[in-house]
Amino acid sequence: MKKILTGLQPSGELTLGSLIGGISQTVKLQNEYESYIFVPDMHAITVRQDPKLLRERIRKNVALYLAAGIDPSKNIIYIQSENLYHANLSWVLECTTYMGEASRMTQFKEKSSKKDNVTVGLFTYPILMASDILLYDADYVPVGGDQKQHVELARDIAERFNKTYGDTFKIPEPLIRDVGFRIMDLQNPSSKMSKSSENTKGIIFLLDDEKTIRKKIMSAVTDSEGKVYYDTKNKPGISNLLSIYAALNDISVEKAEEQFKDYNYGNLKKEVSDTVVRVLLDIQDKYNKLINSSEIDEILDRGREVTNEIAKKKVEEVFDKIGFGR
Ligand code: AMP
Ligand code: TRP
Repeated sequence: MKKILTGLQPSGELTLGSLIGGISQTVKLQNEYESYIFVPDMHAITVRQDPKLLRERIRKNVALYLAAGIDPSKNIIYIQSENLYHANLSWVLECTTYMGEASRMTQFKEKSSKKDNVTVGLFTYPILMASDILLYDADYVPVGGDQKQHVELARDIAERFNKTYGDTFKIPEPLIRDVGFRIMDLQNPSSKMSKSSENTKGIIFLLDDEKTIRKKIMSAVTDSEGKVYYDTKNKPGISNLLSIYAALNDISVEKAEEQFKDYNYGNLKKEVSDTVVRVLLDIQDKYNKLINSSEIDEILDRGREVTNEIAKKKVEEVFDKIGFGR
């Protein structure tokens, strides 16, 4: 069985966009692949984090992923910082990466141009990400489009190491997961629903209560035409509502369009609200049972144990090939 591996950033609160474009895709893949999912908490400190909040989010996100259908019997679930080998291998890979190629990373260029106190960690973070991937010989890495370049860097590093020291790492491939549904901001339907937007009126968070969800959808921006059909260019608001409905009911947009063709906007919004409320309340119900349970700890303990064993072997092989130690 081929192996997939993905990391889920513990920064920010998860949204309906993360559910439809991210989590649901991963849930589908778990049946076809041997699957590794981890929380890259060490990546989170490339920017300053509040320790209490960071720890809360790690657990919260694991609980939300489980509640949304990530099956612990089909996935190895673990926390990056509970496995010291990630940072160990990362050092070796830093010495396998050229300044030129690391400097080309678009995400670094964008993020560093907007900030004052840019850390060295923000610059080297794609190399830690390469380490996350190469430690486990992942075949495929499901990520959002913005991470494709980082997976390609991991490939280049792996190829270079293999050439120098002999076959050691599997060459991974990115699996881009936001090619299907792109969920837009309800107040500003020409931009993506993002957990980092400042105005939260257009964003549905997975833990929003029923009243808030309904209010946000009922006040979604639409247009003045009054007819329901899918046209992302001229009717981004209505198209977004149709996408949300279709994605959550696992039907095509065409089918949703057909179903709502005689509806007015108010009634469409009501139906979409009902669907979102149904899906999110179910997730929240499971989340509430999990968040303080020992089940999460058992899952993470097992993940720590399994991955430490695998990573130890890989790092020992690498150290041996390099000529470290006695
Ligand atoms: P996030 O939870 O924002 O880190 O996103 C996790 C993954 O979900 C990303 O890699 C994207 O593939 C996907 N995603 C996030 N927001 C959206 C959105 N608004 N529409 C579609 N996919 C999204
Ligand atoms: N950098 C990824 C993101 O921002 C998260 C991540 C860290 C990751 N390490 C990874 C994803 C390894 C896939 C594989 O979304």
